[in-house]
Amino acid sequence: MALYSEKVMDHFRNPRNVGIIEDADGIGEVGNAKCGDIMKMYLKIEDDIIKDVKFETFGCGSAIASSSMATELIKGKPLSEAAELTNKAVAEALDGLPDYKMHCSVLAEEAIHSAIDDYKKKHNK
Ligand code: FES
Repeated sequence: MALYSEKVMDHFRNPRNVGIIEDADGIGEVGNAKCGDIMKMYLKIEDDIIKDVKFETFGCGSAIASSSMATELIKGKPLSEAAELTNKAVAEALDGLPDYKMHCSVLAEEAIHSAIDDYKKKHNK
């Protein structure tokens, strides 16, 4: 069996929602101390709905695929739903990640939660 699923390879080769949002309502940046990879998420929020989301990931292929899939999973969703996104859901949507690459999907979960926290702090929610 191939190490990475078709979906992982697809999102790694053609990542969705790469970039920055200049006037983002919430920004989250997280890193993994062991591998040194960094992920940054930008959220545009209107009426508690995620209208737009973009990311920059300086990291491995699994981290890029995880961030891409995570943005797809929360785009257009209510904030409350996005806040519940787990790394497991991201990995499952990618048809799985090797065990030793699961921490890459954790980075995506943490980056989104951190961006939501930033939004809440800035908007006194
Ligand atoms: Fe660090 Fe993938 S190896 S995020």
